[in-house]
Amino acid sequence: MTHFEYQNGELYAENVPLSSIAEQHGTPTYVYSRAALEQQYRAFDEALASIPHQVCYAVKANSNVAVLQVLARLGSGFDIVSAGELRRVLKAGGDPTKVVFSGVGKTADELRFALDTGIGCFNVESEAELRQLDTIARSLGKRADIALRVNPDVDAKTHPYISTGLKQNKFGVDLVTAERLYREAANMGGLRIVGIASHIGSQLLDVAPYLDALDRVLALVDKLEKAGIEFEHIDVGGGLGVRYRDEQPLEPASWAAAILPKLAGRGLAVHTEPGRAIAGAAGVLLTRVELLKQTEEKNFAVIDAAMNDLLRPALYQAWMDIVPLREKSGAKPLNYDLVGPVCESGDWIGKERELALEAGDLLAVKTAGAYGFVMSSNYNTRGRAAEIMVDGDRVHLIRTRESFDDLIRNERLLERRHG
Ligand code: LLP
Repeated sequence: MTHFEYQNGELYAENVPLSSIAEQHGTPTYVYSRAALEQQYRAFDEALASIPHQVCYAVKANSNVAVLQVLARLGSGFDIVSAGELRRVLKAGGDPTKVVFSGVGKTADELRFALDTGIGCFNVESEAELRQLDTIARSLGKRADIALRVNPDVDAKTHPYISTGLKQNKFGVDLVTAERLYREAANMGGLRIVGIASHIGSQLLDVAPYLDALDRVLALVDKLEKAGIEFEHIDVGGGLGVRYRDEQPLEPASWAAAILPKLAGRGLAVHTEPGRAIAGAAGVLLTRVELLKQTEEKNFAVIDAAMNDLLRPALYQAWMDIVPLREKSGAKPLNYDLVGPVCESGDWIGKERELALEAGDLLAVKTAGAYGFVMSSNYNTRGRAAEIMVDGDRVHLIRTRESFDDLIRNERLLERRHG
């Protein structure tokens, strides 16, 4: 079930007409559905119910503290990639012992902070990080619980910018290096081996690369277990895709049904790190048509959302569905490029869309709950959008729109020179 549906020609988020949110809070505005977030979290939790498991929501997909709070209340763990994300999780009431820390460039300060906080697992991505973590943990009189993020060298068949499990990618350590590092880590006084991790890419639509990766990782687990190294969990990463246009994404249940047989009888708990599959379909971006502009070549609709608000189309040529908030329109349908006001030709949100538009019309960019607001910027001195969470018929403002004062708060004019 989706939580953004038309009723009497008006697009709703749960029980709230989106046009009322646009009128009250202005545009561009991100709107999330609490029920949609909860539904997707539960889909993962239930899909893995037959074995010990931990769903660690990937905070980077949408890190608003209210989003994290909703998931923390359901018992979610969290996959973080910075101290900042860890602080968000703590602020939202998340349990630090259910936090896994991924990322190729964790700083010494971040490692120290995460150790002090008592996170569940460091997903270590290099030999240098392993040694540094060992040193820091020993200096603090602690042991860090670790997994190595293994790069299984499988082709996840997704956009090259969001593929992470190939040899040429910067992520994780290859299988041969991982074997050596596990043997060494077993003798490091500041570390305790608890797991093994891999994450091969994002927006995956097929289960085959997961199965290939799992086979390779489990072969390494077998080798290491023979050498007396024991694992408590295997982290299979995130990456399940969503429908932006006409994709047929895997449901968590069918994904779990495919991978769980490989784990049967091993006594390993399974961790997963979904981001997009939890938050993606739980959000839309509301925008207003500023003006229509016809040129010899094109019909442009200039909208008030731009690449600084939603970067995915500009960065990945990603397709995002764009629909009117009110189905009826007096205008005649034309083929439009929907572009933002930013001074870049790459600033577009949708190309060649058949829409009936007039200046002032309200639109929703769908499936914008993941990698939407979090990738926004202040380019062209544009304040970042407001964020709203709808819960039944209640509307919560969970981030106010940035004002000009917000934007220049940290800037300073030069002191006047004397003499
Ligand atoms: N775990 C790790 C270690 C990751 O690097 C990622 C995403 C995830 C989990 C969550 O992946 P998901 O379930 O969301 O696919 N900005 C891009 C996506 C970048 C994904 C980065 N890593 C986009 O807008 O498509």
